[in-house]
Amino acid sequence: MAIIYHEESRIFDLHTDHTTYQMQVDSHRILMHLYYGRKIEGATDYLIQYYDRGFSANVSDAGNDRTYSLDCLPQEYPCSGTGDFRSPAIRILQDTVDSCDLRYVSHEIRQGKYSLKGLPAVYASDDEAQTLDVVLEDQVVGREAQMGDTVNIDFDGFLEGERFDGGKAEGYSLELGSNAFVPGFEDQVVGMRVHLLYGVLPAMDIITRSVIVQNTGTEWFELDRVLTANLDFVCGDYDLLTFYGRHGMERNLSRNAVSHSSQMICSRRGMSSHQQNPMMILAAKDTTERAGLCYSMQFVYSGGFMGVAEKDQFNLTRMQLGLMEEKFSWPMKPGGEFVTPEVIMSCSTAGFSVLTRNILRCIRKHLCRGPWRDRVRPVLLNSWEAFYADFDNEKVLELAREAKSLNMDMLVLDDGWFGKRDDDNSGLGDWYVNEEKLGGTLGELSRKIHGMGLMFGIWVEPEMVNEDSDLYREHPDWAMTIPGREPVRGRNQLVLDFSREDVLDEIFERICRVLDEGQVDYLKWDYNRSISDVYSAVQSHQGVVLYDYILGLYDFLERLNRRYPDMLIEGCSGGGGRFDAGMMYYTPQIWCSDNTDAIDRLRIQYGTSFGYPAAVVGAHVSAVPNEQCGRVTPLKTRGIVAMSGSGFGYELNPSVLSEEEKEEIRGQIREYRRFAPLVLSGDVYRLSNPVTDRVAAWMFVSEDRSEALVNAVATETHFNQPVSYVRLMGLDPDAVYCRDDGREYPAGALMEAGLPVPIEKGEYRCYQVYLKKKKETPEGEANGGV
Ligand code: GLA
Repeated sequence: MAIIYHEESRIFDLHTDHTTYQMQVDSHRILMHLYYGRKIEGATDYLIQYYDRGFSANVSDAGNDRTYSLDCLPQEYPCSGTGDFRSPAIRILQDTVDSCDLRYVSHEIRQGKYSLKGLPAVYASDDEAQTLDVVLEDQVVGREAQMGDTVNIDFDGFLEGERFDGGKAEGYSLELGSNAFVPGFEDQVVGMRVHLLYGVLPAMDIITRSVIVQNTGTEWFELDRVLTANLDFVCGDYDLLTFYGRHGMERNLSRNAVSHSSQMICSRRGMSSHQQNPMMILAAKDTTERAGLCYSMQFVYSGGFMGVAEKDQFNLTRMQLGLMEEKFSWPMKPGGEFVTPEVIMSCSTAGFSVLTRNILRCIRKHLCRGPWRDRVRPVLLNSWEAFYADFDNEKVLELAREAKSLNMDMLVLDDGWFGKRDDDNSGLGDWYVNEEKLGGTLGELSRKIHGMGLMFGIWVEPEMVNEDSDLYREHPDWAMTIPGREPVRGRNQLVLDFSREDVLDEIFERICRVLDEGQVDYLKWDYNRSISDVYSAVQSHQGVVLYDYILGLYDFLERLNRRYPDMLIEGCSGGGGRFDAGMMYYTPQIWCSDNTDAIDRLRIQYGTSFGYPAAVVGAHVSAVPNEQCGRVTPLKTRGIVAMSGSGFGYELNPSVLSEEEKEEIRGQIREYRRFAPLVLSGDVYRLSNPVTDRVAAWMFVSEDRSEALVNAVATETHFNQPVSYVRLMGLDPDAVYCRDDGREYPAGALMEAGLPVPIEKGEYRCYQVYLKKKKETPEGEANGGV
């Protein structure tokens, strides 16, 4: 059993193969967080210490016990208004009054993993996961009992919902004594029930969380802030790892000490964003790739988010992740319900590489879906950096012929094929083919391309509209703008109101018409601005718009996946602006960055690898000098960097390449096809830091450790330079591995001393070695512990 409830101590154990997560319903029926870390047996409630602390408030049912203050205690789901002055997980307002007090009521343990209506979530079969559903309710605890009250009384367990008659209650209170579980004579100020959901996937070392808030009363209240996950640690000195960036330079790793202040990462953009990624890692100070304690939280959501890490006055650390509270407020009508997006958590006591392995396997096997999840993807040629929007029928067909002659699998016609779209100032929203530009219908073009033995893909940006478009002229109210104000533009475009069903339906129909006509095998779904004007013409309460927008987006993508189950959808948002676990549920591939420079990509793909598998990474070889930064790198290096993403392809005009370069590309594609299954399904190991080390090195190892692919790129070159050795990881330490040329290496030495990277003259040289395991090892040692 992964989830165990100990009746006597009221402790919940959530066990995975290598970790334990423990919480306890305390004598006040507050749900306390006890422990998360290495797998253990036994209770850890001894960790909680009680002292009378000045200026730390006491809940009323603590009576004269001034040592019981929620301001100092580790809680599972702290709420605003209980005298905990740290960052709350939830805040509700009733008639603008900020108060609520969540107490344990009941729980249920279910086989299988919960799912969330309308939201992406980790999935698992019934024998792979269990669910814990803990129910809390807002209650006033501790007043005198009155006739007719409903009481919850506990002797050993709980005896709930008994009708109180005077005589019986007296009897109960006599028997209870002062050490017994405190009976409540409860009223509800706010009719509010909260379900804390925990999904436990033992073999993955993964715990997921979500929260459902219900209005069970007769009065309205407002959800002002509702985060998904809160983790309190009574001790420990931690660093926080976050992933910041900008357009074209996403997911740079930042590591900072958690100090006596609050650190926050967030996106206010209505999208997960290039600027901060919705994932965070808390790590003990000495944690490295190979050793040490670390915890991750990752948001399965593509809209705004906030993540908090703070150390409190007594050095307790709190880590939180959930929906962005700004521009959010949710009116809870009687009977209403709100579901928070999911957070995926993992813990490793063996460094970042094991943490990464846990998260990436979970995303790859339990979040990505559809036939393309496990399939080697087609090698594509994308028209964007070849022509931008400047093409005609002949140029497209010529590009297709080149793609075929280079042994590629697919031609992707990027932006510019629809409406009046010769640059990025007009035409968005007009999802009908520009037949004049294409020299015929999309059907005709696609038939010709299919006839060459290639697959065919197109680019769309369904959530957007240009003011200079027929769609905007027809339906100006479909765009989100603030009444009475001029719109704030981004890339000269406005955002369509995807919180509206009529808008979704109409755009869906228009996009489907194109897909049907064009026999489209692949769709690049782009999204090229942040949302600034949060206003929906059909909503009376604007605090719901951003959340409903994302639900609308998910609904659209779900419908699209159902209607075109074999179509490969690649997500994109100016590259990696919506590179998040939420999108991965619908699009098993995402364009990682608009930056195709191989050296910049080393950093981007390095940061990305902490939270997302290579299986979802779109990465292309582009021309030199690079279009974005002008750098010149060898074609081989560009190939090795790009083939570390499963969405491998080219983004250049092959007709300007030399015969020699074309031959090299054919060879590169052969290599890609050989290694693609390993990159798609293997575990990634970061062997160096491309920002600080002279060599950027990383490797893929198959789950059974029978094969590995080592990659290295020299980011510095000097005369007479020392040799760099990269220490490999993840191999079977007792085995011997062979290179293609038969050279043998003991894995123990490769992992302890390292592999020398040959020195070559010239900038940004690279080195790639495929290793195959030679000798079998004793059983039971595969894929070692946490
Ligand atoms: C975004 C994408 C690019 C390209 C352009 C087209 O910037 O990230 O890859 O598709 O849009 O406008």
